[in-house]
Amino acid sequence: MTQESLESYSHENRMFPPSEDFTKEALIPGIEAYQKEYAKSIEDNEGYWAEIAENLEWFQPWNRVFNGDDRPFFKWFEGAKTNITYNCVDRHVHNGLGNKAAIVWEGEPGETDKRVLTYWDLYREVNQCANALKDLGMKKGDRAALYLPMIPELAITTLACAKLGIIHTVIFAGFSSNSIRDRVDDCQAKLVITADGGWRRGQVLNLKSIVDEAIDGCESVTDVVIVKRGHGDPFPCKVKEGRDHWYHRMVQDKPIHCEPEPIDAEELLFLLYTSGTTGKPKGIMHSTAGYMVYAYQTMRTIFDIKPEDVYWCSADIGWITGHSYILYGPLLNGASIVMYEGAPNWPDSGRFWEIIEKYRVTIFYTAPTAIRAFMKWGESWPNQRDLSSLRLLGSVGEPINPEAWMWYHTVIGAEKCPIVDTWWQTETGGILISPIPGATTTKPGSATFPVFGIDADVLTEEGEPTETGLLAIKNVWPGIMRGIWGDKQRFIDTYWCKWGGQYYFPGDGAHKDKDGYIWVIGRVDDVVNVSGHRIGTAELESIFVGHPDVVESAVIGINHDIKGQCLVSFVTVKAGIIATEELVIQLKELVIKEIGKFAIPEKIVFAADLPKTRSGKIMRRLLRDIAENRAMGNVTTLADPSVVEELKRKYSEN
Ligand code: WT7
Repeated sequence: MTQESLESYSHENRMFPPSEDFTKEALIPGIEAYQKEYAKSIEDNEGYWAEIAENLEWFQPWNRVFNGDDRPFFKWFEGAKTNITYNCVDRHVHNGLGNKAAIVWEGEPGETDKRVLTYWDLYREVNQCANALKDLGMKKGDRAALYLPMIPELAITTLACAKLGIIHTVIFAGFSSNSIRDRVDDCQAKLVITADGGWRRGQVLNLKSIVDEAIDGCESVTDVVIVKRGHGDPFPCKVKEGRDHWYHRMVQDKPIHCEPEPIDAEELLFLLYTSGTTGKPKGIMHSTAGYMVYAYQTMRTIFDIKPEDVYWCSADIGWITGHSYILYGPLLNGASIVMYEGAPNWPDSGRFWEIIEKYRVTIFYTAPTAIRAFMKWGESWPNQRDLSSLRLLGSVGEPINPEAWMWYHTVIGAEKCPIVDTWWQTETGGILISPIPGATTTKPGSATFPVFGIDADVLTEEGEPTETGLLAIKNVWPGIMRGIWGDKQRFIDTYWCKWGGQYYFPGDGAHKDKDGYIWVIGRVDDVVNVSGHRIGTAELESIFVGHPDVVESAVIGINHDIKGQCLVSFVTVKAGIIATEELVIQLKELVIKEIGKFAIPEKIVFAADLPKTRSGKIMRRLLRDIAENRAMGNVTTLADPSVVEELKRKYSEN
């Protein structure tokens, strides 16, 4: 975020209290109820979480709610045994919700490609899948990588893994084969679940062929399961005898009941890989009980979820948003969810509004980058549809600019739906800062206040409270990550070194206004948030320097009207090499190969040299000034100040 936008944030003084109608019906009905619950959640934190946990089912009770003896390796609900899938599915079937819609799914092709799974359907399908996985020899503690489109089987197979205690790692289907390989290798996955294909903007993505390339030579993988997405004949794909199994054959005739595996509270539920400041993406570890309780409670209080709601989160299950607020959070609450496979602008830019009208969606959760794209496509798309079923809107993934917030509020929310701008991360497991919809008066662009059980503040590097500084979480909560797979030290160094290890450091800058509202500004490290996708600049730089013609590269994130941020890379080539359009294409192809299309920089600028200090450190701040066309800061510390003028010229030519 630039200084200008920060200024506009701190001058924002429009206030939107929840409507009386909303508050009257809300689970947290107004500010007093909120304050009372919040105070309890902080004063008696363990008691609070124990009480919430009682709403779920346990096979064995805990003997300690929280154990912080081995900081920062926290334990929650120690001694307890439970099963998250049992709580998401079986529990509701036993409680008479079997005939309620769990998943209302629409494929990208639309009308011809729809499915509704009741809780009973989900129960059967998850159990048949779990029984099939058992027959393959998969067991508790094994790792399974899931590379699937947004189809019901993604939910089913994820829940089936969890039912058996198989640690799942879902890989977003936009990632390349090399990214899959890195993840499979890192966690030594035994099983990969994929599909013959998935639809994206009218095209079939051949996922299985990407998987084949990825796991060629990966010795840990013993079995691959292929879901047939195509109707009738499968989409073309290879099937390797002995290793590959068709999902539909594997599950047919399997028993429809499957005993849930009792899982120890701290046993891992999943890994989710995400980018950091250095090196390859890291496997964020989430444990069973704490994550479950946290996803359950934040879903209930922040989305005010009720039995009659139709809830739609437009994210992909491949990201943490999809884990916590498409799958686990809603299902733990027995909600009906809408799940959509495709793009928001296919076959036209009104697709999302068509879906909301068609299924009478009541709660809609999406990302600012999508909202800004909708704004660009124009009001006429949503205006053609009946969106009156909506009662609550959510935003996630990046800061929402006040203009986009206001558009969401007026055009989509008809000025009656509260907006919950939810701040959190892959690492936090669930939302930490957000309005509570029936209680909090919102300000456009502010994620407002920490939610129940969370104590957050804005601090200086030294740990002093300040107006504009670093976001700090001062206590721990059940859903917090349990570490980085295979890298204890990196976990400590990244999140627990600032402020003497006292507070959790998320890597975001923030502003706290005079009313105590928190405005999250964006990352303060070398992580860039492009359309809500997290990309480490170091990852890209190492890809570029892997090209034989490249000497050095510096990648930065700059502001972008729709994407929030976009990537710009500066590249220097070896002496005698001429930087051509062909080289640009090759560099882009490398990014596609190593990460995926979504990580291609907006601009690749060739430079004779990069601005460096006398000790050889690249001055990224100056690169950002150049790319955002700002007056240059102090350049006197540069080893060679003339580099800047040259870069400016190159940049404007590009
Ligand atoms: C980073 C985490 C949380 C699910 C999706 C992203 C940014 C996220 C907000 C928000 C301002 C936000 C932060 C954070 N972020 N939500 N409401 N306001 N910034 O998860 O990929 O782990 O990325 O996204 O910078 O650190 P993620």
